[in-house]
Amino acid sequence: MRVAVIGSGYVGLVAAACFAELGHHVVCVDNDHAKVAALKAGKTPIYEDYLTEVLARHQGDNLSFSTSLGTSVKGAEAIFIAVGTPMSPTGDADLSYVESVTRELAKSINSYKVVVEKSTVPVCTSAWIERSLVLNGCPRAEFDVVSNPEFLREGSAVSDFLYPDRIVVGAASQRAAQVLRDIYAPLLDGSYSSHTGAVPRPEGAKPKPRYIETSPQSAELVKHACNAFLAMKISFINAVANVCEAVDADIEEVCLGIGSDTRIGHRFLRAGIGYGGSCFPKDVAAFRSAARVHGYKFELLDAVHKINEQQRQLFLRKVRMALWTLKGKRLCVLGLAFKDGTDDVRESPAIQIVQSLLHEGCEIVAFDPAAMTNAKALFSDSIFYATDAYAAAEGADALLILTEWKEFASLDLIRIRELLKYPIVLDGRNLYAPEAMAKAGLDYHSVGRAARAISHPIPVQARVAD
Ligand code: UDX
Ligand code: UDX
Repeated sequence: MRVAVIGSGYVGLVAAACFAELGHHVVCVDNDHAKVAALKAGKTPIYEDYLTEVLARHQGDNLSFSTSLGTSVKGAEAIFIAVGTPMSPTGDADLSYVESVTRELAKSINSYKVVVEKSTVPVCTSAWIERSLVLNGCPRAEFDVVSNPEFLREGSAVSDFLYPDRIVVGAASQRAAQVLRDIYAPLLDGSYSSHTGAVPRPEGAKPKPRYIETSPQSAELVKHACNAFLAMKISFINAVANVCEAVDADIEEVCLGIGSDTRIGHRFLRAGIGYGGSCFPKDVAAFRSAARVHGYKFELLDAVHKINEQQRQLFLRKVRMALWTLKGKRLCVLGLAFKDGTDDVRESPAIQIVQSLLHEGCEIVAFDPAAMTNAKALFSDSIFYATDAYAAAEGADALLILTEWKEFASLDLIRIRELLKYPIVLDGRNLYAPEAMAKAGLDYHSVGRAARAISHPIPVQARVAD
């Protein structure tokens, strides 16, 4: 198939690379000339497992990059829109990029095309795209609009794309539905994974995804509802963690008990400093807003958002209580990305915590295995950057773990204790067993578990009530 992908961000670039990997002829379009020049020069602008290899395998062969939307879409049978849909100040999704792409598309469509929404958009956007294409002069018979949401997690986006649990396609016509079936055929029949050099199937991934065909509105809702549900799961467990702290229970034990109910499951039950990233905060707000537009007040989502914001404040309070005063304290911060496995710092809880600590007069020495460059663009020389976790810990008044990188879960704790000025660890991601910290002689404060102060008792109960 001949495919055009518009937008070469986290979603568009991964989609373009993976469509090429499935054997299609792909052109990836972006209006950012510098980004396209870098991609043409073989540079991968984001940190994603397998992405560099897959791009290198297809570039110049069945994958190309362009800044010209008009010429790129002319030969394509399907056009995937993957431009950003950021949060506007009111919480709605800002669809101005989608609209401007639609206007340009209307001028360029020269034969029947399937226009696919890949970006996360509020329900009924496909109807708006259709209306806009017609209003801008594209004959109705020349296109169909399909919603095909992505469920990629940053860091494992390539594997998620090639080995999905499900593919959801919301098409209003059989003709368009067939184009999407053809595009995904190598995944649907399981043939992709048997190709030599195929990206390996992650452990536990299904050999063939479930293929779900729906109306466009249902597909649009699946995406928002899915992200909102996962965000709700995280906020729920964070709320339970706060109760645990108040009654001296252990959230990890509670999670084991809850997650073992197969109706609930263990995933997305990790308590911590709350969710971040370019999707959950934006999608919770956009879903709430879309529901309101259509006459429903989705108050549950207000609570999900509020609990998430509160988690950071509660953690900051723990830092204050563990350190007595903050002004002038040197803090080692491990983790700046919004989660492990990515260099993305958008809406990162770690970044927001660092900003608050800087505001309170702390000196920050940070290390992140992948997000240092992006963090430097934000903080410039207002924080110090260390070359590894141990260098960051040297001489610090306390160590803070803010991102769940695996390597932060296996630090040499004795060495850390020797490097720190004071033996205080505040873990916003619950990476350690409190006993291991106590054994290493470290005061350990985590989320939803009683603090283990080894040297002197410090009251760190952080109650939600105030
Ligand atoms: C995506 C989705 O689009 C969003 O809906 C989803 O919720 C998260 O992921 P992402 O890929 O992260 O967004 O966005 P971003 O990294 O900002 O990339 C968008 C790309 O589109 C950029 O490279 C930008 O230059 C390009 N763009 C934007 C265009 O080519 N044309 C435009 O008119 C606007
Ligand atoms: C999410 C969705 O998972 C994905 O399906 C969608 O396409 C895009 O949005 P992503 O933003 O890459 O993916 O990250 P995800 O792994 O979902 O984590 C989001 C945030 O929640 C991170 O800040 C992470 O640290 C946090 N999180 C996740 C928790 O705090 N606890 C958990 O149990 C899981």
